[in-house]
Amino acid sequence: MRTQVGIIGAGPAGLLLSRLLTLQGIDNVVLENRSREYVEARIRAGILEQHTVDTLTEVGLGDRLHREGLEHHGIYLQHPGTRHKLDFPELCGRTVWVYGQTEVTKDLIKAQLDGGPPLLFEVSDVIPEDVDSDSPRIRFTDADGNPQVLECDAVAGTDGFHGPSRAVVQQGPTGRTWERTYPYAWLGILADAAPATDELIYAWHPEGFALYSMRSPKVSRLYLQVDPSEKIEDWSDDRIWDNLATRFALDGWELTTGTVTEKSILPMRSFVSAPMRRGRLFLAGDAGHIVPPTGAKGLNLAVADVTLLAQALVRLLQEKQNDLVDSYSDRALARVWRCTHFSWFMTSMLHRSGDDFDAEMQLSQLRRVCSSEAAARELAENYTGLPIE
Ligand code: PHB
Repeated sequence: MRTQVGIIGAGPAGLLLSRLLTLQGIDNVVLENRSREYVEARIRAGILEQHTVDTLTEVGLGDRLHREGLEHHGIYLQHPGTRHKLDFPELCGRTVWVYGQTEVTKDLIKAQLDGGPPLLFEVSDVIPEDVDSDSPRIRFTDADGNPQVLECDAVAGTDGFHGPSRAVVQQGPTGRTWERTYPYAWLGILADAAPATDELIYAWHPEGFALYSMRSPKVSRLYLQVDPSEKIEDWSDDRIWDNLATRFALDGWELTTGTVTEKSILPMRSFVSAPMRRGRLFLAGDAGHIVPPTGAKGLNLAVADVTLLAQALVRLLQEKQNDLVDSYSDRALARVWRCTHFSWFMTSMLHRSGDDFDAEMQLSQLRRVCSSEAAARELAENYTGLPIE
């Protein structure tokens, strides 16, 4: 098999890259080790920045997003006794959308299977090879167990944190990584409960952070800070609702409960791998970086990466110019570090950890963001997404 761009991984990064390239007339093939059912069922983030919405709309995937997505004009920041709204349009002229990553993925897969380039599920033993040459290849075993070779002009590693691509880039001469593991985790639930709030609530509480998010007018998505050693079996639905009620408590406001349809514990870490390119292998999305979910940046960063990567690959393959592939890693990493800082800032400000001095520092920072327009604007600009440069 031969194609121009071999794409490893059918998450939002790989699928969107495929679509951007296809619209520019570049052949590509997407390989995915999981099944379609698995990919479409995994529950992930839920907030789309304005530029993510714009990009999805430009590639023809805005219909269901605009019909079923919920446009949000701000967030609430809470600490005991106070719930303060940051008004995004007022602060920075932008909004965000609530639309699950799962839904984005379903829309991308549907478009791909409806006349798009090949998308092969359930492949295994995927290895990018000869990436330092101008004709790299991907070896893999197809769903029927047959060994295959995909000859390419370039390979995109959009295969997430556990995929094979990052290790190949790291084995290059300048590979290096940075990592921060936070001393807490999130317990997340999905519940058949109408959201009891118009905007997301980020709540600081002495017993730990809580986040009120949603997926639709009938489904809430809620998170509690827990110790990373906690076992989900020890958290009954009643215990979860009791903790949520305590942490979101505010005079005159009530939590609505409902049937819990999913619950899991998610680790929190920051991770950056540089460079994001080795020869003709390019990393994008979680293959290159992980951010903790507090800033809602993971999916949006992946979209920003592939926006830059698609432009660079079009320039390389159609105009035979190397400039944009040569600058891809540095340009992508500048945004990665900005989002890494913002995610770390939100995470550090909101999670209870350390001693009482730390708690006072957090509360002082929260009061600052809630009282200074300059401090609030800085948060709003980052949360709604800085322009892709
Ligand atoms: C979510 O809805 O899953 C969500 C929302 C905002 C965040 C993180 C997760 O900061």
